[in-house]
This record gives sequence, structure tokens and C-alpha cells, in this order.
Amino acid sequence: MTALAHPRVLIPESKIRQRILELANEISYDYRGKEITAICVLKGSYIFFADLIRGLARPLNCEFMGVSSYGTKTVSSGEVKITLDMTEPANGKHIIIVEDIVDTGLTMQYLLNHLKARKPASIKVCTLLLKPESMKCDVQLDYVGFRIANEFVVGYGLDYAGSYRQIPYIGVLDNET
Ligand code: PRP
Repeated sequence: MTALAHPRVLIPESKIRQRILELANEISYDYRGKEITAICVLKGSYIFFADLIRGLARPLNCEFMGVSSYGTKTVSSGEVKITLDMTEPANGKHIIIVEDIVDTGLTMQYLLNHLKARKPASIKVCTLLLKPESMKCDVQLDYVGFRIANEFVVGYGLDYAGSYRQIPYIGVLDNET
């Protein structure tokens, strides 16, 4: 059995926890009087999603969508594929798309256009991480946890070739950039 290499710590657990509380409070305030439909974009955002929704003090429905753009590569292919869809109609719902990371923005641009066509009452985006220098398109990101440099990050749900998702902090794989 091979041991998992330890990525360099970029954002420690305690900072993630604190920032998620702030985001959850902000979202709860913005959605007062409303019911939220939160969409977890698999796979990367499931850990962030689980922590974020537990801080939301509003009526909540959870949905899960699968999108795939990277495969095992560390550079975006720009190709987005829906691999799993919502189980309830989006029509008339107050949707928040929850992502682990917005890198080129191509996945989010595709998802937003796709879901807007279903006529939700409103649609916003919450991403834990944003790489501003990598953005290749103009997408509105309503809630951003951390802005990071253009490094390949893993942990807290994010993977490299399927590994490292269980690491409890955001780390950098220095040899994979
Ligand atoms: C990651 C991430 C976003 C997307 C962002 O998913 O979760 O969905 O890449 O990249 P972009 O802004 O350049 O489009 P990935 O395809 O790695 O799949 P996974 O979440 O299943 O690991």
C-alpha cells in the first residue's frame, strides 16, 4: 500500500471553517423569507456543500448535479458534460449553485446558462475557491470563499486524478502545476 503524499497547506481547516460560517450567515440573511434550493456540483463540492448547508438558517432543498470537465488532466479541457441532473424541476425555485472551485469559469458559465433556461425564480453562485487569473469568461459569482493564485489545489473535496479529496485542508501539489 502506498502512503498519500502531504500537499503543502494553503488554507488550513480552521480558516475554512470560519469562512464557511461567514458565507452561511451572509446567504441566510440574503434569503430571509425564501426557501433555498442548493445544488451540490459533484464531485468536488460535496464536502464544502455539507458544511455550508449546515449553517443555512433557511428552509432548504438539496439537489445534486454531476458535471465533468477535467478528467484526469490538471488543465481545463473546456468541455463540460452533465453526468447527473436534478430530481425536481428548477422552475420557480431560488437556486444557489455550490461549487468547490471556479477556475476558467467555463463549467459555471455552462451550468448557469443551462439552469437559467429552466426558469428558476432566482439563481446565484457560491464557490469556495476562485482563481481570478485563470478566468476565461465573465460569470457572476455571488459568494466567494477565497481568491487564490493559479496553483493546482487539492483537498477538502478537490482531487488530483481521483485522489486527495479526503484531506481536510486546501493544499497545493507543487509538482503538478
Ligand atoms: C472542477 C470543479 C469545477 C470545475 C471548475 O471539477 O469542481 O466543477 O472543475 O473548472 P473550470 O472553472 O475551469 O470550468 P472537475 O471537472 O475537476 O470534476 P470533479 O468536481 O468531479 O472533481
